[in-house]
Amino acid sequence: MGIPFQNPVGLAAGLDKNGSHIDALGKLGFGFIEIGTITPRPQLGNPMPRLFRLPEDQGIINRFGFNNVGVDAAVENIRLSNYKGVLGINIGKNFDTPIEKAADDYLLCMRKVYQYSNYIAINISSPNTKNLRDLQETKALNSLLVDLKKEQTRLADYYGRYVPIALKISPDLTSKHLNAISKTMIKNKIDGVIATNTTISRDSLGDIARGNESGGMSGKPLFKLSNSIIHELYERLQGEIPIIGVGGISSGEDALEKIKAGAELIQMYSGLIYHGRKLILDACRSIG
Ligand SMILES: Cc1cc2nc3c(=O)[nH]c(=O)nc-3n(C[C@H](O)[C@H](O)[C@H](O)COP(=O)(O)O)c2cc1C
Repeated sequence: MGIPFQNPVGLAAGLDKNGSHIDALGKLGFGFIEIGTITPRPQLGNPMPRLFRLPEDQGIINRFGFNNVGVDAAVENIRLSNYKGVLGINIGKNFDTPIEKAADDYLLCMRKVYQYSNYIAINISSPNTKNLRDLQETKALNSLLVDLKKEQTRLADYYGRYVPIALKISPDLTSKHLNAISKTMIKNKIDGVIATNTTISRDSLGDIARGNESGGMSGKPLFKLSNSIIHELYERLQGEIPIIGVGGISSGEDALEKIKAGAELIQMYSGLIYHGRKLILDACRSIG
């Protein structure tokens, strides 16, 4: 993506949705931090309870639904931070924006966050916003990426700085889908891909009954599935687009396995909840 990283271990989106803890998170040893998902207007997200720990499985189920303060307040938080490291800003659409108008939300957020980002992540893979993942269908995806690329070119010209775009995808895609998405990303010269978001599948749970809350599952039970997606993506992209690997990392060895599956950078969220900061250091050490 043309960005120099201090180390390849990043914070995944969703922990600091509003960019209100960037300075503190920046001191934990990450090579990069991704904030968001941010939407154009503030929204409350889904009613509570909406976060469930699965301690026996080291997993998490969440159905937050993009609770966030909206792009203007988030930008204010970013402006107030002193963090000098690599900052990714993850953007999405408001829950009540019709899916046919989704591009307008992404474009609006992109314009507002562009000058504060080292990269912009396009979240089209959260299972907690109705129909959002339909944007991964080839026709809709191509149309969205054409719009985003046009805006990126215009903004790069205006600010005199190119900010890469990374697409965040779901682990619940078939091989056929992955094929089409890979082709569409290459065609549109997308700069990076973040694989993966949370899964709606519960197949990997030791006891399926523990997974009966609806929402996206992350953490250890996602590890194998997200690795298989990364591996398939890597075969299709042939190094043309770098992969940021995320999903279920809970040890230094897991971090290395993600790299071996084809990722150039990694991110973590759930593993931090169960293992704390040590996991960041273990991952850095293990990748070397
Ligand atoms: C509570 C929670 C909230 C999340 N919110 C977001 C979000 O707002 N945007 C996003 O792109 N991903 C979000 N994610 C997904 C993570 O960024 C990551 O892709 C996923 O959890 C897999 O990584 P992990 O197994 O290390 O947690 C969220 C995950 C969790 C657990």
